[in-house]
Amino acid sequence: MAEINIAVVPVAGLGTRLLPATKSQPKEMLPVGRKPVVQYVVEELTRVGVERLLFVTGPGKTSIENHFDVDGELIESLRTNGKEELLAALDFERTPLRYFYTRQRRLLGLGHAVLMAESFIGDQPFVVALGDSMIGMHAQSRIVERMKACFVENAAEAVVAFEAVPPNQVFRYGIAQPKSEGDVFEVADLVEKPTVESAPSNLAIAARYVLSPKIFEALRNTDPGFGGEIQLTDAIRHLLRNGGKVFGVRLSQGEQRYDIGNFESYFQAFIDFALADSELGAGLRKWLEEREGGKR
Ligand code: UTP
Repeated sequence: MAEINIAVVPVAGLGTRLLPATKSQPKEMLPVGRKPVVQYVVEELTRVGVERLLFVTGPGKTSIENHFDVDGELIESLRTNGKEELLAALDFERTPLRYFYTRQRRLLGLGHAVLMAESFIGDQPFVVALGDSMIGMHAQSRIVERMKACFVENAAEAVVAFEAVPPNQVFRYGIAQPKSEGDVFEVADLVEKPTVESAPSNLAIAARYVLSPKIFEALRNTDPGFGGEIQLTDAIRHLLRNGGKVFGVRLSQGEQRYDIGNFESYFQAFIDFALADSELGAGLRKWLEEREGGKR
């Protein structure tokens, strides 16, 4: 099978849980440390061999397109003003990745956003990475590489990343019913937002997928579910019901998922990334400790 080197990054959602911050800017452009969230997502995908990337965007999201463009005027201005040392911050503009954009014209959910990629993807497997979720610090995660290998080895129709969450958090996520133990496992079923008592495990879907193009037909046959939206999870269950094999790959130690779609985890992500900043992290930690100790 040819290399899986194409990714779809849905960024069309309204981000209402982050209002007012997201009233006139995309949540995917909110900074975590020094970069917008979606830049970490793109860097992670570039490291694992993605060569073509399709953003599924919507109204109010043009700053994402602008961010990944080469800004000749800004480069020129930094040069003429003797600020060459700042040019390194724009290195990401020169990635060999090719960007494509399409619009989700009606916001009918994540599954519907993925369906917008159908004519671009054609008949090949592809990666889906949520534009508001980072895996691990500083885009170092290789989870997608492990997922691609699992997809090929097992002739799977879908491979989903999972993160173990505290049992009292399962009601927030799509949860796996695994067929076996281990870091790579076959999925018997997926349960959307179960109660603690009914959850088949504590393994929560974690923002990365490798999918066969069969997902498009499954999505077309998926009725709106939770919140009136077409859910990607429901379409993956559709594949399972039709005899397709679905596998899960667990995030490793150090690959925590940062979903910045709510303020609690956005704040946590920002603090973790700021504390890890090579230039300012140590000073920030000292400042926090002094505050805790009542010295400020
Ligand atoms: P969320 O499930 O967090 O949805 O999206 P949302 O609509 O952005 O957020 P809230 O609930 O209003 O706060 C997860 C990812 O899927 C994209 C989002 O942009 C985000 O990156 N998405 C979601 C779409 O592209 N289209 C949709 O219809 C829904």
